[in-house]
Amino acid sequence: MKLADNKATMSFSNGAPSVEMPIYQGSVGPDVIDIRKLYAQTGMFTYDPGFLSTASCQSAITYIDGDKGELLYRGYPIEQLAVNCDFMETCHLLLYGNLPNASAKADFTKRVSNHTMVNEQMQFFLRGFRRDAHPMAIMTGLVGALSAFYHDSTDITNPEHREISAIRLIAKLPTLVAMAYKYSAGQPYMYPKNNLSYAGNFMHMMFATPCEDYVVNPVIERAIDRIFILHADHEQNASTSTVRLCGSSGTNPFAAIAAGVACLWGPAHGGANEACLNMLEDIQKMGGISKVGEFMNQVKDKNSGVKLMGFGHRVYKNYDPRAKLMQETCKEVLAALGLENDPLFKLAMALEKIALEDDYFVQRKLYPNVDFYSGIVQRAIGIPVGLFTAVFALARTVGWIAQLNEMIGDPEYKIGRPRQLFTGSVRREVLPIAQR
Ligand code: ACO
Repeated sequence: MKLADNKATMSFSNGAPSVEMPIYQGSVGPDVIDIRKLYAQTGMFTYDPGFLSTASCQSAITYIDGDKGELLYRGYPIEQLAVNCDFMETCHLLLYGNLPNASAKADFTKRVSNHTMVNEQMQFFLRGFRRDAHPMAIMTGLVGALSAFYHDSTDITNPEHREISAIRLIAKLPTLVAMAYKYSAGQPYMYPKNNLSYAGNFMHMMFATPCEDYVVNPVIERAIDRIFILHADHEQNASTSTVRLCGSSGTNPFAAIAAGVACLWGPAHGGANEACLNMLEDIQKMGGISKVGEFMNQVKDKNSGVKLMGFGHRVYKNYDPRAKLMQETCKEVLAALGLENDPLFKLAMALEKIALEDDYFVQRKLYPNVDFYSGIVQRAIGIPVGLFTAVFALARTVGWIAQLNEMIGDPEYKIGRPRQLFTGSVRREVLPIAQR
């Protein structure tokens, strides 16, 4: 961390001595005030529910400029990565900090391919779930259960264990998501085919059956790969912060990633892709584009509890760059599948247009986020709505691991332990039950 020339001074109106705090500069983005000694010096905590003004760590992985609508992985703009690289290159970049050359890419891809199968016992574990269980409920269980199968890579303090667990998680998540799908569909599991690309293999495990081969359409393969790239990391969002906090206790990487999966499930986070598609289908059932105005009135009515899902973001106060790329992919996939007139896509475009011109959205700087279009792409490909967030989890796994490993390697790493402003009862005595 680079110390800035200036310092921050906190003064108090009650005459208590003022406190000087160092300021650190990042390579880009806002400076931070180091408040670590504040409690020792003043006996006071800072108060920031939802972390609106708090940097919880230093990180060199992903940078977002929310006002510009810019997203960089290790300095590279998402627009360039989405067009020039594939998911394996992106994983290498996030994990190791550099884009691989051809031989490093081949080596990394081979290492991942070597781990795509899961322990055969996982099938029996999966069988314990109801067939209609939500895929994210299954994924939370399956990912956590990996720690029961791969004991030789559970020591988070051991760099070799961290490396092998990283490769295992990246390799096995597609297998687990496809198994969760096959289980709900009542179809036999398909083993991975390591001669296929990462995205192609996922499509194979999802849609092939032992009765017939599945030939992956290259447009769809590319679209899935792009979904993976766009969701791979997003700095200190809720699920990533969950993984860091969980991992900070020294728990094993599989358990920490399972915590991330659980957090991602919520509709304000990764569950938004499913919620967005359900919302579009509901509006379509109400009458489609002709009902958009009515729906928007509900969204703007604070008492309705209705939100425009896939819109708004804590950090982006401009167009989410991933949404633009996803919209492009949406058009490509629908054209390749002869679905140019897909009513949900038309509805999404109409909603976006109205929202971007409406004062409510303009004043609050609400723009489409990545989930606004990703559901339409996945649905067109044949991925069931309930599985959307599991696909997101699959893609985000590399980001979670990169962030977890970065934290463990940080000399300033400490167990995460936020404090509180206590507003409950002061000390009181327990009365015998007859006197209460
Ligand atoms: N529809 C309608 N109003 C909205 C929306 C929305 N989607 N999002 C925010 N607002 C309003 C809020 O009601 C609030 O209005 P107010 O100032 O009058 O009270 C204002 O915009 C600011 O919103 P906050 O909720 O304070 O913003 P916050 O940063 O806490 O929340 C969030 C961000 C959770 C993403 C929110 O925009 C939301 O719920 N969006 C819909 C869910 C969604 O798409 N989530 C995906 C996020 S991206 C991802 O995880 C991949």
